[in-house]
Amino acid sequence: MENIRDYVRERYAKAIKNTTCCCGSGGCCTSAGGADILSMTKGNYDGATLEKTPEHMADQSFGCGNPFTEARIHPGETVLDLGSGAGLDLFLASEMTGSHGKVIGLDMTDEMLATAAENLKGIENVSLVKGYIEEMPLEDDSVDVIISNCVINLSPDKGKVLKEAYRVLRPGGRFCVSDTVFIRPVSEQGTKNLAAWSGCISGALLEEEYAAKMKAAGFEHVEVRRSKVYQVPENVADMFFPDISEEERREINGALASAIVMGKKPAADLVEGRDYTLRRAASDDVPAITSLLEENGLTPLGAAEAPENFLVLEHSGIAAVAGMEIQDGNGLLRSLAVRSHDRKKRFGERMTRAIMDDARSRGVRNVYLLTETAERFFERAGFSLVERDDIPSALLSSSALDRVCPAGSTAMMKKLG
Ligand SMILES: C[S@@+](CC[C@H](N)C(=O)[O-])C[C@H]1O[C@@H](n2cnc3c(N)ncnc32)[C@H](O)[C@@H]1O
Repeated sequence: MENIRDYVRERYAKAIKNTTCCCGSGGCCTSAGGADILSMTKGNYDGATLEKTPEHMADQSFGCGNPFTEARIHPGETVLDLGSGAGLDLFLASEMTGSHGKVIGLDMTDEMLATAAENLKGIENVSLVKGYIEEMPLEDDSVDVIISNCVINLSPDKGKVLKEAYRVLRPGGRFCVSDTVFIRPVSEQGTKNLAAWSGCISGALLEEEYAAKMKAAGFEHVEVRRSKVYQVPENVADMFFPDISEEERREINGALASAIVMGKKPAADLVEGRDYTLRRAASDDVPAITSLLEENGLTPLGAAEAPENFLVLEHSGIAAVAGMEIQDGNGLLRSLAVRSHDRKKRFGERMTRAIMDDARSRGVRNVYLLTETAERFFERAGFSLVERDDIPSALLSSSALDRVCPAGSTAMMKKLG
């Protein structure tokens, strides 16, 4: 294992030095001739995303895809990037988690860590950790989302990496990485040819092997979704493999792909009454409610004036809150928040059900809300899209919502039976 890691480390130390002096990708995933093959960063991210990244960062990227297409990172989450390299994905994740969230970059190569430190200077929610992805120097159950970009294929012990990923994820945490995979088995010679061409994929797993290792580590909802299948164009084949047979060329053509590999650590089964309690809020709870709402980027409107409109969930302090404003049989759900380290415990779903039941018992027939980030969550809770103008104006203006919810937020409604 040490030999392989030393080899990989040397390779990336050299590769990042080359990019910092010459401004062009080099090293793994890049052909000896300098033409980008797997690491076509500029093709992996859209132009708007790359435009906002600091200068040169995209040129220093060695990824083979874009884990964010599926990772759906929320403000306040803790994200871990395995083999974070020069830090492009750390930068993007730091914007998504916001100042209440945390992003950790784990890498074994000093030169990569030094470049990332330079690139991310002044970004306070990112920390860099030196270590191996096979032995992560992180606590159990401490991370919400694991991302990675073209790294796990390099590990000599992928099973160990996936077990470690499972250990450090919180119950309910998500694993969403971009990696290279084989679509079909390739002979030893074919693997050598591909490694010579791309520089880094000789360690890639077959798609089904990857999925099996994920499941063996304990993940559920495992999916390996191809994002790009690599063809070896004739001119490249002529240049790199002038001596290989037509059959050998056919074997490697389309055998390798970039994929997004996803899985979830099962959520903890917490029992109401034993592990947590739900109750109506009182005025003593206002400071905790206010800070929880602010931590989630919500304005604590109405908490001090009418705490009885709020329900709280107690789980070593107040872990979740929901508030509903009621006017003439209509309700406005506008303050649903869960403490960041209690995110994967299904408290959001539990609080939504509780506040809806409470509203029903108080004669509410229609519940409205405005959201910028949680449309899918509320769809799952039975809400559907409506026009903002459909929200009764008395409700909107009484809650001063017009002031705090941007015009672009989505309006939703659910009828209570
Ligand atoms: C292909 S580069 C990808 C870098 C980055 N994810 C990106 O998209 O630019 C692989 C990175 O993983 C790191 N790495 C490879 N194997 C590792 C291991 N076993 N433990 C920790 N880091 C590793 C390397 O140092 C390098 O920075």
